[in-house]
Amino acid sequence: AAETGIDAWLRYARVPNYESLQDAVPGRIVALNSSSASPVYTASQELVMGFAGILGKEVEVIDSASNMRPYGSDIDSGLLVVGTVAQFAEASVDVGLEDELVNDGYHIRISGSDAHIIGANARGALHGAFNYLNALAQGNVPSESYTSNPDAPIRWVNHWDNLQDGGTHGSVERGYGGESIFYWNGSVREDLSRVPQYARLLASVGINAAIVNNVNANESMVEPRIVKGLQRIADLMRPYGVQIGMALNFATPELLGVLDTFDPLNRSVIDFWQERTDMIYQHVPDLAGFLIKASSEGQPGPLTYNRTLADGANLFAKAVRPYGGITMFRAFVYDYTTLNQTGNWKDDRANAAVEFFDGLDGSFDDNVVIQTQDYLNSDSVLVQPIDFQVREPVSPLFARLQNTASAVELQITQEYLGQQDHVFYFADLWKSILDFDLRVDGEESLVKDIVAGRRFNQPLGGYAAVSGIGLNQTWLGSHLAMSNLYLYGQMAWNPSVSSAGVIEDWTRLTFGFNQDVIDTVREISLESWPTYENYTGNLGIQTLTDILNAHYGPNPASQDGNPWGQWTRADADSIGMDRTIDNGTGFAGQYPPEVAQIYDNIETTPDDLLLWFHHVPYTYELNSGETVIQHFYNAHYAGSTNAQTFPTRWQALQGKMDEQQWSETLHKFVYQAGHSIVWRDAINDFYYNLSGIPDKLGRVGHH
Ligand code: GCU
Repeated sequence: AAETGIDAWLRYARVPNYESLQDAVPGRIVALNSSSASPVYTASQELVMGFAGILGKEVEVIDSASNMRPYGSDIDSGLLVVGTVAQFAEASVDVGLEDELVNDGYHIRISGSDAHIIGANARGALHGAFNYLNALAQGNVPSESYTSNPDAPIRWVNHWDNLQDGGTHGSVERGYGGESIFYWNGSVREDLSRVPQYARLLASVGINAAIVNNVNANESMVEPRIVKGLQRIADLMRPYGVQIGMALNFATPELLGVLDTFDPLNRSVIDFWQERTDMIYQHVPDLAGFLIKASSEGQPGPLTYNRTLADGANLFAKAVRPYGGITMFRAFVYDYTTLNQTGNWKDDRANAAVEFFDGLDGSFDDNVVIQTQDYLNSDSVLVQPIDFQVREPVSPLFARLQNTASAVELQITQEYLGQQDHVFYFADLWKSILDFDLRVDGEESLVKDIVAGRRFNQPLGGYAAVSGIGLNQTWLGSHLAMSNLYLYGQMAWNPSVSSAGVIEDWTRLTFGFNQDVIDTVREISLESWPTYENYTGNLGIQTLTDILNAHYGPNPASQDGNPWGQWTRADADSIGMDRTIDNGTGFAGQYPPEVAQIYDNIETTPDDLLLWFHHVPYTYELNSGETVIQHFYNAHYAGSTNAQTFPTRWQALQGKMDEQQWSETLHKFVYQAGHSIVWRDAINDFYYNLSGIPDKLGRVGHH
């Protein structure tokens, strides 16, 4: 039981109807591959484990293609064949799928008790096997053929794991699930046993690469002794079809003392990076590429030398090009040293990304992907303009980069969103970003279509998410939080999945078939975003956590006068960032005209983003008819009241699921219920003290 949670949604637990399913699945498996490093081989091993666990059925693996019968020719005990399109062709089975499958996609062909799992490539075959097992583990044997292709080619996780971080060894920046599974004390860990377990989880939901170190990168990452360790990590992930990639520190040549410059146009700097890249690819020939955070938060970058962001990104793009690698360049670019903390009404960190990228679209190499954070939650092209807050508008940069590939950066780890001590299921928040229509040139321009490359005809693009997992047995520090890793993979594969459907599947796979458990997890998960938003920051004012350091707990006083540019401009009479075009910071004008018009006009700005775009008196009346201040009071009571129902609702599940997972989760809910009251009163009292306006219902300012 100490290990409860390690297998997460891949427990392969016996299903209630297992007896009736045993004969409906094939009794023998052929893996069209003999190499144990191949994901096809991994697929066959998973199928064996899955059939044994889920159905109590022992199956044989026949690893030689010569044992194959023509498709559908025999129906006695059923044969499951797994392989790639090319391997099926070699085995003289014409699958006729060349046009239907895209990279990493798969086709599952069912005929009687025979099944063929046909991957576009080896990784696709493994995805197909996991998909088949996902159905089985929920009590269903696929009975009809189907094809599944990923929506976008890039489906990566990012790790903010520190190789070395001052005195903290093996720490994970903004991670709440324990120490790094990759590093310890400035080196790659000797014991990497969690790495394949993790890669297995990633592969099962279609994730194809992992950046294995923090974007605030340590220069030693490119030293040969570390690269040898990365090779060990890559070797452990490769059988799962998960490539690794690295984050690099832009100033590495100087920090390592090799050169006295890191100017991206300097010949010796270019040579330095090419040599290191060549060395890295010798150890990890299938490295996915590099992730670069540069000229951001006071860090070095091309702007240090008055070079453009494109000069910076292309330096790395050229180095990895011979190897087919990709450079992900983060749009999280801003310079807090120039942000005026008090005076200038027009200063706005949110403007930075678009301003810095201005005029550069088209000058990036075609293997550069700009990673934009969305909602304080993204990393490739920043999806959100500020930083993973409880609600932000979509980054306008997505509309601007039409000749450059872009990816959205999300955060699975709940940095500003309760750090895994408050329940937060991201589905509806992420959908609100991905389904947003930016109306470029007056035409439908959904973020999910832009990052998939469809809208602007880009061959690259997709998704990145900051994972945050660590050595904790639950990976993320909370059992329920793992639904977000599962969700992320499902959404990057198909952004149109249903929020409720995904959480129900995940619950069945993780906690079992009890309908009360499934209903309660679904209901609480779907309530989690509005609940948390209600008792933290409303109306687009941002999360109101302490933003100076911990990013945890209420600290509305820290929202102004800070150097990070996350401001609310709250005073005794009024609140909100004026981001209008004429009177404010002009941010609203960075959107295409139709969207700009909506946000620039206070009447048409949705209530939930009002204070993101406008500065108004506390007595301003919302579309809902409430005043801003009364909305704050009411929402904080509503959110906290709902959070206080979570422990009771969870208590009713005792005995209906794993006891340890139940009690550890109950503990979290009891804590959250109490902390929601702290939040409620801290925020309400703060704005009552500031504004002097009493709560109409008499709850605030009277205790
Ligand atoms: C946030 C986070 C930092 C992180 C930064 C980034 O500001 O708090 O820890 O380094 O985002 O995304 O680069």
